[in-house]
Amino acid sequence: MTDPIIEKSPRSLDQALRPTDWNDYVGQPAIKENLRILLTAAKGRNHQPEHVLLYGPPGLGKTTLANLIAKELGANLRSTSGPAIERVGDLASILTNLSPGDVLFIDEIHRLNRTIEEVLYPAMEAGVLDIVIGKGPSARTVQLELPPFTLIAATTRISLLSAPLRSRFSGGTFRLQYYAIEEIAEILRRSAKILNISIDAGSLTEVAKRSRATPRTANYLLKRARDFAEVNEQPLDIKTVKKALSLLEIDEIGLNQIDRDILTILVEKFNGGPVGLKTIAASLSEEEATIEEVHEPYLMQVGLLERTPRGRMVTKKGYEHIGADMPKNQQTLL
Ligand SMILES: Nc1ncnc2c1ncn2[C@@H]1O[C@H](COP(=O)(O)OP(=O)(O)O)[C@@H](O)[C@H]1O
Ligand SMILES: [Mg+2]
Repeated sequence: MTDPIIEKSPRSLDQALRPTDWNDYVGQPAIKENLRILLTAAKGRNHQPEHVLLYGPPGLGKTTLANLIAKELGANLRSTSGPAIERVGDLASILTNLSPGDVLFIDEIHRLNRTIEEVLYPAMEAGVLDIVIGKGPSARTVQLELPPFTLIAATTRISLLSAPLRSRFSGGTFRLQYYAIEEIAEILRRSAKILNISIDAGSLTEVAKRSRATPRTANYLLKRARDFAEVNEQPLDIKTVKKALSLLEIDEIGLNQIDRDILTILVEKFNGGPVGLKTIAASLSEEEATIEEVHEPYLMQVGLLERTPRGRMVTKKGYEHIGADMPKNQQTLL
């Protein structure tokens, strides 16, 4: 389902390097400021902060933010995820087991099914749980009052969330941005310190440049570069970093093989597009969701791909990146 390079950095690595202090949470200034205001105001009024939705590609720091919010509130973080909640009863039991003031984190909330989602509406809005007892004509609804809690939900695919669910995040809906190279380098400096990796600034920047602007990927690549240097008994310098990352098929701007395959297939088989997502996925034998959540956002971020109403198209820069010439008739389409 997910890309090996981008997603498979082990959870333990995420955990070891996950900032536990706002000062170590680099970047995302607008989100941090909005959350600071939300949390400070709630604390000042002695109120439970309202529910928050975080969205954006994997590895940009959503789970980390949920942890920081809970810590800021001095609250317990109860974590679950859309796919883990299979039945209405699962959610009911999570909700009724909350303690007052808890932060409930639901990751991948787009994967909650509609019936379960509907249980969330009254819980989010009025702090109650509607339970249906019995079946048929004798069925009746009992309303249970829930302890005050704050829901933090995360998703990589906000477009899959229903409008009623989206509208209930009254604390705010925040989109995480890709990071600047300098920000990634800062994150890597801290990671190198924690992992006891000695590496010079230039080499760190080289890793940052190839990290597809994503902290999780950056941390993963730093570890791989260290392994490569150790095994080959080479110093961890720029040359080694380049060799290590080329071996992982990551190019100078951080694209991996699948990213490049997407561009190549669009150019070679479909004249640069426009092509629908389904067709691209089928041609590559990749999952649509992975292409849409992981690959396309970054290709668009670096200006190599565009989403048009008629489908995906490779930009002039995209053609250049894979060493192809953009036909004149394509240029007028974009
Ligand atoms: N803003 C940040 N500053 C420092 N490190 C970060 C930041 N965002 C993410 N990270 C690092 O990347 C890892 C993945 O982040 P995570 O919050 O799990 O991403 P997501 O939940 O969006 O997939 C974290 O464990 C942390 O090491
Ligand atoms: Mg996460």
